[in-house]
Amino acid sequence: MFDKDSYLASVERAAFYIQSKFSGFDAETAIVLGSGLGPFADMAERISSLSYSDIPGFPVTTVIGHSGELIYSQIEGKRILLLSGRFHYYEGNDMSVCTYYVRVLSKLGIKNLILTNAAGGILDGMEPADLMVISDHISLFCESPLRGPNLDCFGDRFIDQSYVYDRERIDLLKKTASELGIKLHEGIYCYTKGPQYETPAEIRLIKALGGGAVGMSTVPEAIVASHCKMKITAISCITNLAAGISKTALNHEEVLQNAAKASSNSCKLVYEFVKKID
Ligand code: HPA
Repeated sequence: MFDKDSYLASVERAAFYIQSKFSGFDAETAIVLGSGLGPFADMAERISSLSYSDIPGFPVTTVIGHSGELIYSQIEGKRILLLSGRFHYYEGNDMSVCTYYVRVLSKLGIKNLILTNAAGGILDGMEPADLMVISDHISLFCESPLRGPNLDCFGDRFIDQSYVYDRERIDLLKKTASELGIKLHEGIYCYTKGPQYETPAEIRLIKALGGGAVGMSTVPEAIVASHCKMKITAISCITNLAAGISKTALNHEEVLQNAAKASSNSCKLVYEFVKKID
């Protein structure tokens, strides 16, 4: 269990450090670059960047392909903050560590959070390298990141979860995808702790519960971001069909290959979407 005062002090120290390094910082939108979104960092115009390891208190990622960089960028004059690398529960992190960066973003004044991830596809008609906008999530199988002392300066103890993902933004993303000719599913993301992929029986259960895709990130962060009253948009890159739906056994290489295949569409979609949000 984390200590409230030292956790908050650490969050404030990290935010202060970032502000001191990114002079004139005024971004209100942050994007977490999940699998496939890596090239986005080069599409946006870089103002400045920091390695996670240089930020006091910031955790360090252990996942290959996640560089652990905070990038202050702009798209056509709109300032944004990019996070290349996130912290997963399966790496052994406590939930308070997985979601620490969301608290720091909130202290920095971030109001819009765009989360992207890799996921196994469950919805009928999904194909590897498709994209799905997350309309809702199932977090029943994981520990709440809000467990423990409530951080009152961010939000209340018992928070509503009826509209975690902003409906207007979902519609805007769908409109943007259709303008770009990009196929975009809409569905419910089910969070599993990992690191092992699910069994076919688990996927049948998740499908019966209404899950449209399954993955090992995003939900703890979205819960904390909703506690911080951010407007959240989340996109899954369907890197594989989920276990039992796929004709073959799952493997991490397939996930990486399909993330790369979807990369150009996901980067284009996020780029055009970010230009439109205020
Ligand atoms: N399950 C869980 N996480 C994932 C998957 C999956 O099938 N694909 C990519 N991340």
